[in-house]
Amino acid sequence: MTKFSFSLATSLLAIVFLASCNPKQQPENTDKNEIDTLSFILQGDSISAIMQRVLLSNVMQATKAGGPVYAVAFCNERAMPLTDSLSQKYNCQIQRISDKYRNPANKPSKNEEDVLVRMGSSNSGEPVLITGNGKVVYYKPISIAMPACLNCHGNAEKDIATKTLEVIMQKYPNDLAIGYKEGDFRGLWKITFPKE
Ligand code: HEC
Repeated sequence: MTKFSFSLATSLLAIVFLASCNPKQQPENTDKNEIDTLSFILQGDSISAIMQRVLLSNVMQATKAGGPVYAVAFCNERAMPLTDSLSQKYNCQIQRISDKYRNPANKPSKNEEDVLVRMGSSNSGEPVLITGNGKVVYYKPISIAMPACLNCHGNAEKDIATKTLEVIMQKYPNDLAIGYKEGDFRGLWKITFPKE
């Protein structure tokens, strides 16, 4: 290696190291030397953005094709398989969790209830990485980012059409995911990566 490329490599390393020391991206409970924080944050950011686009475009298309009643039935059948197929594609496990979950499969674990409270009350929009048991878990807040979300997650009397509410209650008899306003914290993206 020439002297030039050696010093270039050193300064690139320094940049990566400095970037991963950015306090906003500080992992919790981690041995900082063991994982490349920045790389997991970037992967988590891009996978959650892709997943969000896929789900959103599907729900919009279904609404256009058959209205919100059809779109609820569509989400009921398709949200999980779509998530699983992207998980396979990116070699990770993609989930959505919420304290007020609609699908019981999106119920948080005991430990995650704390993560939800902390990330929900700070509502900074920033991701958090937690490592342990040979895994790296990326969490990122999901918010009620647009009025369209209220058609199925808003106020039961004001925002959700009677027919839509009926099909929600039928598919999810224990639904907790209503009563939101625009801008509210809705839950978290959870993306689990193997450490290597
Ligand atoms: C057409 C109705 C509809 C619209 C519009 C809609 N959702 Fe949902 N949402 C659902 C259904 C149905 C589920 C449960 C999917 C499943 O069974 O996996 C769900 C689940 C979720 C979950 C997973 C956690 C849980 O409660 O199970 C999140 C997070 C979520 N929605 C956020 C949003 C956001 C943010 C928007 C607006 C961008 C939105 N939704 C728009 C119907 C809708």
